[in-house]
Amino acid sequence: MKRALCRLDELEDPGSAAFTFGEEDLRRAGLIVRRGGSVFAYLNNCPHNGSPLDWQAGRFLDLDRRFILCATHGASFRIEDGFCLGGPCAGKSLTPVPVTLADGTVWLEDF
Ligand code: FES
Repeated sequence: MKRALCRLDELEDPGSAAFTFGEEDLRRAGLIVRRGGSVFAYLNNCPHNGSPLDWQAGRFLDLDRRFILCATHGASFRIEDGFCLGGPCAGKSLTPVPVTLADGTVWLEDF
């Protein structure tokens, strides 16, 4: 079911946050990244071994805030499409989660 995740202005620019969705046994973890007026969301599972990516709760970006970084073995991913540019899963991608932006609110679409 479509639901509001947060307001765009609640996210740093660039910045990130964690969220969960789904019911009980199907509960899943996601991450959202804001860059300017755009938002991108993915499952919080590294394609290397499935670990969560955040190095602190809700913190997914590298120090320069240019890439999503996996805290476990250091893989780096492009923000805009989740493609892994370096690390043990180079060439693989994060699994996208559909989000939209309307009237300053980030919406999680049916997934
Ligand atoms: S679990 Fe992410 S790089 Fe190994």
